[in-house]
Amino acid sequence: MCDAKLRESSLLCKTRSRGNVRTEHANQAGRYGLAVKPITLEGIDGYAEAHSTPPPPYLAAVAEETRASFADAEMLVGTLEGRFLELLVYVSRARSVLELGTFTGYSALAMASALPADGRLVTCEVNRERAQLAQRHFDASPFADRIELHVGPAGKTIRTLTGPFDLVFIDADKGSYVDYYEAALPLLSERGVIAADNTLWSGEVVGDGNSTSAVAIRAFNQHVLDDPRVVCVMLTIRDGITLIRKA
Ligand SMILES: C[S@@+](CC[C@H](N)C(=O)[O-])C[C@H]1O[C@@H](n2cnc3c(N)ncnc32)[C@H](O)[C@@H]1O
Repeated sequence: MCDAKLRESSLLCKTRSRGNVRTEHANQAGRYGLAVKPITLEGIDGYAEAHSTPPPPYLAAVAEETRASFADAEMLVGTLEGRFLELLVYVSRARSVLELGTFTGYSALAMASALPADGRLVTCEVNRERAQLAQRHFDASPFADRIELHVGPAGKTIRTLTGPFDLVFIDADKGSYVDYYEAALPLLSERGVIAADNTLWSGEVVGDGNSTSAVAIRAFNQHVLDDPRVVCVMLTIRDGITLIRKA
């Protein structure tokens, strides 16, 4: 059974009963592969996206090519969250960013664009084909010299990195979120922030959804909440994004 509030306020239950909510919504995706099933009232995400500054041409190009080449283009953070991440780097004056889960490079480029000229963004991707596409778009962008792409399992790569990082964006395989968080925390700068994506998992975390990823994300959310070393806030932007800082 779905949670009563969700049933009243969204199409979540109806959509879920027809199959995979994330894939189904992706089939109706907007211009830039805006993506997973919205967790807000119908139309709100679209309105928010329409009233946020549109992506620059190099990001639109990543989104267009991703949608044309990959069936799972819904994994892109997309226009709204991409702009949010760019502003997060901007307001925090981050100089160093670590990303786990590059995909085709959209979020990496969005964050890199707000770094100072001598800033650094390290991003990790396990899939070679995705990484190659991302690298091509990095090279074509004005920010190639700020971005370092590591191809391989993020859990392995992170052990080779030295911090501090002002922002760590966790967006790779959901089952490893707790491990990524534990590995990232010691690399975080004094006023650094960890941003974890998809922490509402299309709303499944609220109901009794028991997909592998929903269970993993629920466990991650509880792990962070119970951790006295940090302070966190979960935002209902797109698929949920949790911001975490040291206490
Ligand atoms: C949700 S996508 C990332 C989306 C990206 N941040 C963006 O906005 O365009 C997750 C990515 O993590 C990658 N991934 C999955 N497991 C991984 C691992 N163990 N190490 C590194 N990357 C991994 C997947 O191949 C996929 O491209």
